[in-house]
Amino acid sequence: MKLPYAEPYKIKMVESIKRSTQEQRQKWIKQAHYNLFNLSSTNVFIDLLTDSGTGAMSDKQWSAMMTGDESYAGSASFIKLKEVVQKITGYACFLPTHQGRAAENVLFSVMVKEGDLVPGNSHFDTTKGHIEFRKATAIDCTIDEAFDTSTLHPFKGNINIEKLEKVFKDNPKDKIPFVILTITCNSSGGQPVSLENIKAVSKLCRSYDIPLFFDAARFAENAYFIKTREKGCQNRSIKEIVKEFFSYGDGMTMSAKKDGLVNMGGFIALNNEEIYKEATVFNIMYEGFITYGGMNGRDMAALAVGLDEATEFNYLESRIEQVAYLGRKLTEYGVPVLQPFGGHAIFIDANKFVPTIPRNEYRAQALAVELYIVGGIRGVEIGTVLADRDPFTRKNRYPELELVRLAIPRRTYSQNHMDYVAATLKNIYDSRDQAKSGYKIIDEAPIMRHFTVKFEKK
Ligand code: F0G
Repeated sequence: MKLPYAEPYKIKMVESIKRSTQEQRQKWIKQAHYNLFNLSSTNVFIDLLTDSGTGAMSDKQWSAMMTGDESYAGSASFIKLKEVVQKITGYACFLPTHQGRAAENVLFSVMVKEGDLVPGNSHFDTTKGHIEFRKATAIDCTIDEAFDTSTLHPFKGNINIEKLEKVFKDNPKDKIPFVILTITCNSSGGQPVSLENIKAVSKLCRSYDIPLFFDAARFAENAYFIKTREKGCQNRSIKEIVKEFFSYGDGMTMSAKKDGLVNMGGFIALNNEEIYKEATVFNIMYEGFITYGGMNGRDMAALAVGLDEATEFNYLESRIEQVAYLGRKLTEYGVPVLQPFGGHAIFIDANKFVPTIPRNEYRAQALAVELYIVGGIRGVEIGTVLADRDPFTRKNRYPELELVRLAIPRRTYSQNHMDYVAATLKNIYDSRDQAKSGYKIIDEAPIMRHFTVKFEKK
């Protein structure tokens, strides 16, 4: 019998989470104007809002925290972290930042100008935000398979090389500061990019002399998928695969809150010293001196250990398999979810789950609220609410997909929690025909409305 995977760790400390009644949750969510961001986390039983900064650190990370050097300049923790980043990524220059979007802000301040085009594979919101804020345009070159939730393609984060080449051919080179490849691709459902595709993108970029950067928030999870799905990679270590794919690019931005296994932090790593030099100026202005960049010494010490742990196969296997376990359970129950399962999250297809709720009543939001009321589980809407209004017409934008994302924090919840989530969704699914109405917006911000929007029941 093939032995199942098992977590390569045991539990030393536990954190209580509170169960509550449906009546209590109905009251709390009404007070929160049916916006899950407005809930107090103490009123959430299982929190799957994000996998960002919500994971559990190891004993080795906690003990490294005690060795943190809080010196303003030349911190020993910085030097140690820089060594680890160089070893894992192969990039020579390193700048710490307080989180991923700060790394984007610093790097893009150097590289992105008004009127520029930045091609990539479904840019993450903050990446796109930092591009558009500079009056530049993010161009999505993801393969078409990514937009069908049931197509079983092993690397739905891949870039369509023809689409990318067309952008290169149709535009002057000086308008394209770089290509950004998000690994894994959060916006297409935590889907990986293959080594073959990374190589092909790199070759094309090099032939046009355009730099290639990675948005590497979940780079280790991407390497796990390469190892387990791509021909010829089965016998290679995660660290070897990581080193190889980074060698095809010129640098990276990193949200360490994901595959750094820490609660706060980020960085830029790259080879070009000129860009690095310019970036240091913005880092000092926005983040802090170049040897801490918004991070505490102790956080840099924990990150150095976290990066090493996150690139170990046994850890990644239990991480990705736990997410897949939830996906399989839901599929068994008939609940429509995005396939293949993502690395960090399961995405429920609300268009298939509750087609009975009109689209202009925010069906994915309605489903996310129901999941909270029935089970105390907090997911997040990735649909019309998030897509916001068109900046010119001010009309709602209706994206192709209406999803509820269940992001799984790293090393945090047990298999029983996954069973609980799946059973809750099954119960909601079994009575889905009764869901006829959703919500109407009564107050919203002009941009990024999802964080603060207020709803009323229809
Ligand atoms: N890039 C990707 C692919 C991300 O998923 C995120 C954050 C960022 C950049 C920005 O990093 O939060 O450290 O500033 N994603 C979180 C999420 C917020 O819930 O998916 P940050």
